[in-house]
Amino acid sequence: MVSEEDKYLADVYQRFPITLVKGKGTKVWDSNGREYIDCIGGYGVALVGHCNDKVVRAIKEQAEKLITCHSSYYNDTRLDFLQKLITVAPKGLGKVYLSNSGAESVEAAIKITRKYTKKHGIVATVGSFHGKTMGALSITYAQKYREVFAPLLEGMKFVPFGDIIKLQDAIDDTTGAIIVEPVQGESGIHVAPDGYLQKLREICNSMGIVLIFDEIQTGLGRTGKLWAGENWNVIPDIMCLAKGIAGGVPMGATLARHEIMDALKRGEHSSTFGGNPLACAAGRAVLECIVDDGLVKNASSVGKYFKEGLLALKDKHKIIRDVRGLGLMLAAELRFDVKNVLFDGINEGLLMLYSGKNIIRLLPPLVMDERTVSNVLSIMDKVLSKEEDRRNV
Ligand SMILES: Cc1ncc(COP(=O)(O)O)c(C=O)c1O
Repeated sequence: MVSEEDKYLADVYQRFPITLVKGKGTKVWDSNGREYIDCIGGYGVALVGHCNDKVVRAIKEQAEKLITCHSSYYNDTRLDFLQKLITVAPKGLGKVYLSNSGAESVEAAIKITRKYTKKHGIVATVGSFHGKTMGALSITYAQKYREVFAPLLEGMKFVPFGDIIKLQDAIDDTTGAIIVEPVQGESGIHVAPDGYLQKLREICNSMGIVLIFDEIQTGLGRTGKLWAGENWNVIPDIMCLAKGIAGGVPMGATLARHEIMDALKRGEHSSTFGGNPLACAAGRAVLECIVDDGLVKNASSVGKYFKEGLLALKDKHKIIRDVRGLGLMLAAELRFDVKNVLFDGINEGLLMLYSGKNIIRLLPPLVMDERTVSNVLSIMDKVLSKEEDRRNV
């Protein structure tokens, strides 16, 4: 046991042996006062940086005014947030269902499509991750998450990511939707091949199938565009958001075209906390930061600098098999298990994330600058050399 917390919290998380007590921008501090550069960013949540001043101020001000307001009442802050969100949302996605997490945002997408298309089948992709509640789990690929909870929802199929032929073969009379992450996150940062999302759009248009983009990890600037779909100029019919949308306050959002969202009638879906004013105040501040502080552009340019640095590390370290990603959603795939490297990183003041056993995933805050990235790269250089020595590579 590392912390008293283990006594009480369900033992369902792979945990790192440090207690984080403070964060600011791209840094976090542990209970011993040690500083870390955070390339996990709260699992991709800290888009605008930890404890961003504008977000903190918005939360404080809202907390003094009104913390809870069920969506059966109107609320000024919620309206402001929704207006801001729809202003920047992909064209045509004009209605929003608000919830509290990524999985909930996906659950809503499943129900909305089922109601709209009157079909229950969904085609998802190999390597997908859409969450772990029963509906979202049904379209999450990894067997280890799924099989012990069977039976899940019926009619779900998985086809290789990027393979149009297999996808077309999988579509049948029961297919109501296709769901993809434009860049697969949990399975190791796999970027959609060029032309793939455009082709999905064409298929959905011609067959009356709903196209769902899960932008929970990719959205809000992460890939160097506000929405990852913009990298290929493709707009889905439904888009799922969560993670950093409210700066770390829980929030999920399912955006859809009017006629699709309107298929849901009153009472057919709801959430006590969805649209909570505190989350909406934080969300409004996040959207302002992303737009006003040029974070999308920063993610693009600093992301390029970061990726070039990782590619240089690949040239130097045989242990790196591949480097990939877009913007500040990056990965270095190793030839071996990444565990030692992650733990050595912690000892050197760097937090990195994994994707599967052998992939280092980097999801830093979008406020990252080149100087901090240089520090990250030198630490990575050091810990990779250490691992190569350990493994005699
Ligand atoms: C692409 C994607 N979809 C869905 C989810 C589930 O989100 P949550 O953990 O908030 O339920 C995640 C979480 O990592 C994700 O990355």
